[in-house]
Amino acid sequence: IATDLTGHIVRMNPAAESLTGWPFCDARNRHLREVLALRDKLTNEPVDDLVTRVVREGKVEGPSSHRLSVSNGGEERSIADTVAPIRDSTGRITGCVVVLRDTTEICKMESRLVFAERMASVGTLAAGVAHEINNPLAYVLANVDFAMVELQSALAGSRANKLEEIVEALQEARHGADRVRRIVRDLKTFSRAEADKREIVDVGPIIESSINMAWNEIRHRARLVKELSSVAPVDADPSRLGQVILNLLVNAAQAIPLGRADLNEIRVATRSDALGRVVIEVSDSGCGIPQHVLSRIFDPFFTTKPIGEGTGLGLAICQGIVGGLGGEITVDTAEGKGTTFRIALPAARQNVIPSAVSEPAAKLSRCTTRLLVLDDEVMIGKAMRRALGGSFEVTVLDCPKTALARIIGGERFDVIVCDLMMPVMTGMEFHAALSSFDPDLARRTIFATGGAFTAAAQAFLEREGILRADKPINIKMLRASISSLLGETDVVLAPVGVGH
Ligand SMILES: Nc1ncnc2c1ncn2[C@@H]1O[C@H](COP(=O)(O)OP(=O)(O)OP(=O)(O)O)[C@@H](O)[C@H]1O
Ligand SMILES: [Mg+2]
Repeated sequence: IATDLTGHIVRMNPAAESLTGWPFCDARNRHLREVLALRDKLTNEPVDDLVTRVVREGKVEGPSSHRLSVSNGGEERSIADTVAPIRDSTGRITGCVVVLRDTTEICKMESRLVFAERMASVGTLAAGVAHEINNPLAYVLANVDFAMVELQSALAGSRANKLEEIVEALQEARHGADRVRRIVRDLKTFSRAEADKREIVDVGPIIESSINMAWNEIRHRARLVKELSSVAPVDADPSRLGQVILNLLVNAAQAIPLGRADLNEIRVATRSDALGRVVIEVSDSGCGIPQHVLSRIFDPFFTTKPIGEGTGLGLAICQGIVGGLGGEITVDTAEGKGTTFRIALPAARQNVIPSAVSEPAAKLSRCTTRLLVLDDEVMIGKAMRRALGGSFEVTVLDCPKTALARIIGGERFDVIVCDLMMPVMTGMEFHAALSSFDPDLARRTIFATGGAFTAAAQAFLEREGILRADKPINIKMLRASISSLLGETDVVLAPVGVGH
């Protein structure tokens, strides 16, 4: 837009016409402030004089960021404007030219990037929270279990109904703690703290875990229908695959308005296709995807949702992960009727059996087996002693150096349960020291882990012959593992605590 010395419009190009909503014939000779309603981005004050200073000082101003309220429709756009003096052949200033650049899309993109970064840090946060909750939870569970068993046997003797109520309260507490345990397990599945780790897995439990995570989004909007038929296992990283299904479930929920859950449906189905691939479908009875949007839904940062609700990364991430597994993701949609996303994954080659935790019939050796529990968190040690003390002779130590000294000094232990992350000496260092002194006992050491490992810890746990138990430790399975470890010399244990 060109103006004279007083800021009245003398010329305007078609781009300025469409941006301001004013045809040049109407805008001509009007003052700039009438045609161009600019506001300061920070203060929201109207900017009604762009030209006076430029005319007086003869210097270019800008680019400055302003908001422009477009007159027709009252829409707001982000504008970067530059104002420069116009001079005639003698160098005298005769007016100004205002150059406007529409930065609305760039600004939107920027705020989305900021939001995406924040979401990435939520992943890190989740890993930390999972780790922090696990330790206290481990001894809450173990103590409650102990108290329940003790009270129940006391009850068998007396008939005081106060005691019955205590048992009931403890049972409810146990139930609540168990729910927290499941949340932590799900958080661990979805945090990106652990490196990409492919294994032969069943999709069923992964789908269940994603449903748990998305349940809050789903339940106010739709009924959930599961049609999970038994399909071949796949070769995938369970946390990544879980993320794919979670993204699809959240999208499905967001396509349905809140409130009429009885009229809507989200369906999750599994089946095998003609090529023997494992197919996972997530369908919704939501708004559907219009044709002009469909070609862009897998683009990173493409979203039709308001800022704060969608970053437009969900499907791009899904496509990346599914592609990485040699699979494909496709979509069927009908506007106003609903959408189905379909993932097809190659079935894993069937020579490896998915690691199911089989519980060997625990033949418990009474008070002859010496168990050393090594954990810097004293409460965990105490809880383990209570839980296992009836079956084993349990020694609890909070310092690996003391433990080593006592072993070297001649004290005999049959099995060690050792925390992996301890402040003075890590479980890994303890293992290295013990291996050089008593390799047999080192082989009979089970490492307790709380998730959110370092890369070094991850590599250590993957070494052959290293046994692990995920916290919170499932006492029943730990017991079974200890006795099978003592029964046969080189049993390979499945992770001890990965119970559902
Ligand atoms: N089930 C669905 N029904 C209708 N539209 C969908 C569905 N799934 C995806 N879309 C459309 O595809 C777009 C992109 O989806 P995508 O998951 O990549 O990003 P988002 O959901 O907008 O944001 P984010 O997943 O990053 O929070 C959505 O904004 C929406 O318009
Ligand atoms: Mg999404």
